[in-house]
Amino acid sequence: MNDSTPQSPRSSGTFRGLARVIPFARSDLARLGVGMGIMIVSSGVALGIPIALEALVDGPLATGDPVQVWWAVALIALLGFVEAALVLLRRVTVLTPGTRIDSRFRNTIYRHLQDLPIAFHDQWQSGQLLSRANSDVSLIRRWMSFGLVMLVGNVLMIVMGIAVLFHWSPLLAGVFLLCSLPMFYFGTRFRSQYSSLSRAAQDQWGDVSTAVEESVHGIRVLRSFGRGADSLTSFAGRTRAGRNLEVNKGNARAGLGFWLVWVPDFALAACLLTGVWLASDGTLTTGQLFAFFATAAVLAGPIESIGFLLGLTLEAQSGVARIFEVLDESNTITNPENPVTATPSGGSLVFDNVHFRHASQSPDDPDLLDGINLDVRPGETMAIVGATGSGKTTLTALPARLYDVTAGRILLDGVDIRSLDLSALRTRIAMAFEDATLFSETVRDNVLLGRDDLRDADPARSDAVLAQALDVAEAGFVYDLPDGVETIIGEQGLSLSGGQRQRLALARAIACAPDVLVLDDPLSALDVETEARVESALRRVLATTTAIVVAHRPSTVTLADRVALLDNGRITAVGTHSELLANSAAYRHLISSLVDDPGHDSTEEPS
Ligand SMILES: Nc1ncnc2c1ncn2[C@@H]1O[C@H](COP(=O)(O)OP(=O)(O)OP(=O)(O)O)[C@@H](O)[C@H]1O
Ligand SMILES: [Mg+2]
Repeated sequence: MNDSTPQSPRSSGTFRGLARVIPFARSDLARLGVGMGIMIVSSGVALGIPIALEALVDGPLATGDPVQVWWAVALIALLGFVEAALVLLRRVTVLTPGTRIDSRFRNTIYRHLQDLPIAFHDQWQSGQLLSRANSDVSLIRRWMSFGLVMLVGNVLMIVMGIAVLFHWSPLLAGVFLLCSLPMFYFGTRFRSQYSSLSRAAQDQWGDVSTAVEESVHGIRVLRSFGRGADSLTSFAGRTRAGRNLEVNKGNARAGLGFWLVWVPDFALAACLLTGVWLASDGTLTTGQLFAFFATAAVLAGPIESIGFLLGLTLEAQSGVARIFEVLDESNTITNPENPVTATPSGGSLVFDNVHFRHASQSPDDPDLLDGINLDVRPGETMAIVGATGSGKTTLTALPARLYDVTAGRILLDGVDIRSLDLSALRTRIAMAFEDATLFSETVRDNVLLGRDDLRDADPARSDAVLAQALDVAEAGFVYDLPDGVETIIGEQGLSLSGGQRQRLALARAIACAPDVLVLDDPLSALDVETEARVESALRRVLATTTAIVVAHRPSTVTLADRVALLDNGRITAVGTHSELLANSAAYRHLISSLVDDPGHDSTEEPS
């Protein structure tokens, strides 16, 4: 996705945006409420200290009774202890909801990313998705377990404190409020400024994540082309942009902090002037004047912290907006309401006037697949050949509904695949992709990835399936790995060679024993001898399974019963290899242009 352009959220929607967190916090709202309750009580206790002080100044201090002075001192010390204990209790209470909400968000994002169609993943940078699932979720956790409670608690404390100020002297409190009014102006200005800055910074860190991810995956290319220094310069540019945004955020917070300290102090100075005048004419006692300023001092901390807490809130709001940009993406490839269940399982696959275009294609471009008609019979192996970029990989992604056709239909055993249960469809169709992606798991788990049914099965049965798949894919090399099939292969199988990875990806598809096997150029990375051995073993599997095999080499074509030529988005010729050689000039031309090893005679009949 072209997602690096920061979007500034409308500041009026800060709390409306944050309300979307509620469903993730529902079972924890009570606990958060308790946390806020404790916060309010502790604020009340803190505000009780000036009341005790007033009693001390106007009572025992005025009368000179030493016993009462001790009582007042003990009361103030006790109130301080209770306040500290309540702060501890609040922190412990709100810790769990934050971490639970964090896990719920992460799991929901992960599940949603698994559900979203490939077309979505084609358009989004992986770093942007990673940063949403990591740093944005952390911002929400920090806000839920700290910022929210503190913000609500501090605002309530300020409101209660102002009520207490009015209790001491309505006139002084009025002066205090009037002189504090500029804070609202600075707060509002900060909110709109900080919203766009925090959104821009979070987007920028997403770009930085993408750059890290790409450079780690592409480390070999960068090294071999000597682009390390260039890529570092470009990376440093991105981090500098992120750093600048963080500095701007810090400056905005510091600017607000200045006003949040200075404006109340200015208001207090105005109150002092008025207060001394009121005390001198007897309207206020010394104790009341003292208590007024002690209360105002208690409020200084909460007022000052508002800037920081507002900053946390706005960052959480940007995080929520960014996360919901992903969660709001709907899955367009969905299960039918009433899936057709009882289907024959011969494995016939029919492309009926299939059209397909990528969402990102220009409207002026013709459909990438522009009316494909192809009939793959049960048990038949159909090779797809075509120039590079002609749409072979795209075509093979359609039967398993990795993309949905934009017009026309695909029938599996006579039933439109969109009428079949999606997971049932995908267990019936197994794929080996051009790029053999493996996971950081054991060889066994990688190969048996599609065999959920074997998870709790008799180990002897899963061993047999594994051994047979490895045998067909000529992947016996795994037995020589340090822990055999239990060896954990590195991230994306990087510790294996390209050909080894390809053979494991092939074994993974074969292990599914599917009705339809879709192989996208499965042998491209193999040496001639291994390829010949895989081919002869694969022939046994293909004899009993319907298969579509994308072929880049004439030798792969010989695996197929028939060959379909894809040209300009259409199947322009279908027939056996020899029929097409005899009848199609375009096929002859394509086959002669395909690179094959000298050991293979591309014009031979398949044996
Ligand atoms: N996600 C996408 N969005 C837009 N266009 C795409 C997307 N994926 C592929 N394409 C374009 O679709 C065309 C067909 O791609 P495809 O991968 O199907 O070709 P192919 O026949 O498998 O090529 P090759 O022989 O090189 O593997 C290409 O022009 C490619 O640029
Ligand atoms: Mg391809």
